[in-house]
Amino acid sequence: MLSILSSTRAIPEIGPIPQHIAIIMDGNGRWAKKRLLPRIAGHRQGVEAVRDTLKACIERDISHLTIFAFSSENWRRPAEEVKLLMQLFLAALEREVANLHQNGIRFRVIGDISKFDPKIIDCIQRGEALTAGNTRLNFTVAANYGGRWDIMQAVRKMIAENPDLATDFDESDVARYLAMANAPEPDLFIRTGGECRISNFLLWQLAYTELYFTDTLWPDFDAAALDRAIASYRQRERRFGRTSEQVADQQRNKIPTITKEKV
Ligand code: IPE
Ligand code: IPE
Ligand code: MG
Repeated sequence: MLSILSSTRAIPEIGPIPQHIAIIMDGNGRWAKKRLLPRIAGHRQGVEAVRDTLKACIERDISHLTIFAFSSENWRRPAEEVKLLMQLFLAALEREVANLHQNGIRFRVIGDISKFDPKIIDCIQRGEALTAGNTRLNFTVAANYGGRWDIMQAVRKMIAENPDLATDFDESDVARYLAMANAPEPDLFIRTGGECRISNFLLWQLAYTELYFTDTLWPDFDAAALDRAIASYRQRERRFGRTSEQVADQQRNKIPTITKEKV
């Protein structure tokens, strides 16, 4: 089992470039509406923005990119939109997985994929297996994902595998079973489309993430928009519960920030 740092139990090392960026790609529908196009045209253009963002992340040496593609609540949309979104997801998987692999990208999906068409499940599994050895960028797509679902499934699995923990467990026990147990917590969260909410994304993992909201609609998101988000991130003082003076002291004296602690 990989051990990673939990932001509530240890202070992670932080640099000028976020290691892990998590994005809620919102505003596809409004992008299309502005152009008098059907909503699916916005989703299609959104796939292009994902491609540009992946490239920009690689160029900036970002090690983890996680995107919210379909939430556990998005099934509530009109059946026709859900159907078209599923078709687009399948087409994107069929077309892009080989490219991801060629670019050294490790691809993973988090969420309850059992609800998807078997063709989609098959593409996901093949894509994950094909790219399993890649290390250049960890690219995770959240599909039929919900933060509450993630915590619930983690607790369920933890108890099924360790019945003794049912009455006595701590944060680190649960963390081991979360869908993103293999990744550092996001340093930077970006939500496009102007809404300032989390919409049941990575609830557990965003505990100490820097949040950035932009009015840019997802299909218009590009490397320059990413740089604006990173510039905002760089101005933040990440205190993890400490005082500003403690942070300044630590930086002045170059006290190492990492307190090794397994979660
Ligand atoms: C985000 O764009 C994509 C998905 C949720 C699948 P939206 O479809 O939510 O776009 P808006 O918010 O209606 O503009
Ligand atoms: C969040 O966007 C989910 C994804 C981007 C996949 P929504 O557009 O569904 O969020 P709400 O409903 O406005 O909160
Ligand atoms: Mg939306």
